Amino acid sequence: MSDTLFVTPEMSLTEAWTIVMNQVKEALAGSGHPFRYATLATVDKKKSPLQRMVVLRDFSNGPEFTIYTDSRSNKVQQINENESVSLLFYHNPKRLQLRVTGCATIVNSGEEYMQNWNSDGQKNPCSYTSVIPPGTKIRNPEEAYHWNMESKPNFCLIKIKVTYMEFLQLDGVKHIRAEKIVRDDNEITSWIAP
Ligand SMILES: Cc1cc2nc3c(=O)[nH]c(=O)nc-3n(C[C@H](O)[C@H](O)[C@H](O)COP(=O)(O)O)c2cc1C
Repeated sequence: MSDTLFVTPEMSLTEAWTIVMNQVKEALAGSGHPFRYATLATVDKKKSPLQRMVVLRDFSNGPEFTIYTDSRSNKVQQINENESVSLLFYHNPKRLQLRVTGCATIVNSGEEYMQNWNSDGQKNPCSYTSVIPPGTKIRNPEEAYHWNMESKPNFCLIKIKVTYMEFLQLDGVKHIRAEKIVRDDNEITSWIAP
């Protein structure tokens, strides 16, 4: 099946989900792909939602998504207090939206952690080694431009284990929407009204 296809009403649920998840896999190969960027939503102590853009770093058949961040950032604190998160992707040329709900964990040691640091994280160490923690109030932007390259970086992974996903393929008025409920190793898919 070609990756250039759109989801169409004639497709089976399996074919449709293959097209959608192939877009996620393609996004891992390059920074130009629209699914390389997602909005990550967390919930704070007061149960208010917070969103920010993140770069998709990995996807594996858990299904599980991986993001990199600074362990001192607000999002890490929020995840430590409430593991529920959501990711939102949009592919404008394909008019394809993917919404993901899952449970997040912070990984800051171990084999997978080191693999990610060696292969990717250390290519851009300034993202994780600022002297002043992200979110600190400063007098001017210059004050933040100090990086502690000697110390252990605050690099960490956010691993998001999927519990629910849905896609929406826009197509004039005949939009196509489907969901996938993930429970243990079982995936239950169905079409839903757009
Ligand atoms: C296109 C884009 C991609 C970004 N990717 C990441 C990322 O992968 N990880 C990250 O921690 N912050 C990333 N950021 C910065 C976040 O959006 C956010 O400003 C920062 O992480 C602080 O968020 P927090 O205070 O909610 O933790 C990105 C911002 C943009 C605009």
